Amino acid sequence: MTNYDAGDVLTVHGGTPLNGELRVRGAKNLVSKAMVAAVLGETPSRLYDVPAIRDVEVVTGLLELHGVKVTRGELDGELIFDPSNVESANVDEINVHAGSSRIPILFCGPLLHRLGHAFIPDLGGCNIGGRPIDFHIQALREFGAVVDKSEKGMDITAPDGLRGAKLELPYPSVGATEQILLTAVRAEGVTELRNAAVEPEIIDLICVLQKMGAIIKVHTDRVIEIQGVPRLTGYNHRPIPDRIEAASWGAAALATRGDVFVRGARQADMMTFLNLFTSVGGAFEIDDAPGTGGIRFWHPGGELKAVAMETDVHPGFMTDWQQPMVVALTQARGLSIVHETVYERRLGYTAALNQMGATIQTYRECLGGTPCRFGRRNFMHSAVIAGPSKLHAADLVIPDLRAGFSHLIAALAAEGTSRVYGVKLIQRGYEDFEGKLNALGAHVELG
Ligand code: EPU
Repeated sequence: MTNYDAGDVLTVHGGTPLNGELRVRGAKNLVSKAMVAAVLGETPSRLYDVPAIRDVEVVTGLLELHGVKVTRGELDGELIFDPSNVESANVDEINVHAGSSRIPILFCGPLLHRLGHAFIPDLGGCNIGGRPIDFHIQALREFGAVVDKSEKGMDITAPDGLRGAKLELPYPSVGATEQILLTAVRAEGVTELRNAAVEPEIIDLICVLQKMGAIIKVHTDRVIEIQGVPRLTGYNHRPIPDRIEAASWGAAALATRGDVFVRGARQADMMTFLNLFTSVGGAFEIDDAPGTGGIRFWHPGGELKAVAMETDVHPGFMTDWQQPMVVALTQARGLSIVHETVYERRLGYTAALNQMGATIQTYRECLGGTPCRFGRRNFMHSAVIAGPSKLHAADLVIPDLRAGFSHLIAALAAEGTSRVYGVKLIQRGYEDFEGKLNALGAHVELG
């Protein structure tokens, strides 16, 4: 492991329960999209409670490349975006961001409205499946955009402007729904979107757009109707809290037999997680005091129980909650079953847990739930976890953001000293996680 610098390696002396409290801020998967939405406004926008994470830096860089002035406000976590001078960015400079984030694709609609053209580099993001963008491209074409693939990425133009369309997604994709919202709000006429994603982060993005002057109706059965308007203003917005980070710390409390209060976590966004947390044998308590409230997660003692779980789109169990929770399931008595139905390759990280003493077998079949899109397509997307297993320390290489956090939890739960390589990937989505770990009594050091 020679090609990691000291700041990218975390030494974890495991075996100590995590105890204490931390705070989660605005949801990564809303904040980054709200930042892109600011491009659509004719006046500055203001976003509060923005976490200091790598993905926010990446989107800040992309905004600045396109002429948006990004400044810090007076409050901690407050960012102001001034889009008065939106301009085309140099293709090579945008390409520097390729591989670091999937957010560039969401700039299409806003840039087409502001400039008449957009360039999108080859996209990166977590290595958790094919992550195609066919739904995005198809929707943009139906709005009237012309998409040309070039060597470095995609050139997109709208020679006749963008017009509202009747669209139906083959699967309720979060990113494609956001793409359609960010494009339809200023397209001419009405857009009707069927089979839309309705994750809380999507609803919060709709709140942002409504503050900007957009007219969006969320109907029942995943139907969203957008009435295009000729202009939008800036917004002031406080994002929903990060329910993925909150659940990650909850799972870490359970796996380490600890007790963690996650200030800022909100029950309404986490009901499915809380149900499973209780079924496994974890305990939680809601404090809904305004400003100071949150959720306390703890291991009440005794043995955890095996469960069958299936990831799904909202209101199902989030795919991003799966990896941290599986570490806790290695400590449960009996056979737990996991069926991952959102991404086809999101169980690869279990090999590292096996290396640490867990017993996890992955399967191509759809286990424990309804058959999914991946069932007959040769993807290892189900797992059986036999527990409880005593985890021992290991050297671990982080493959992606959420799997990375689960490696970290496993190292914290294991006896002995582990070295976790590639922790900068965790900084993409977890603000100051080393500081938070220290505050919870973990014995960790960089290097
Ligand atoms: N899909 C397609 N074609 C498309 C778009 C998506 O086939 O054009 C498929 C994907 O391959 C996948 C499924 O649809 O199998 C769902 O993908 P979705 O578009 O919903 O995911 P995303 O927008 O790329 C966001 C989050 C993910 C989160 C998923 C699901 C962001 C930046 N990312 O991804 O978060 O897992 O929704 O909730 O918002 C993370 O935060 O670590 C993360 C991966």
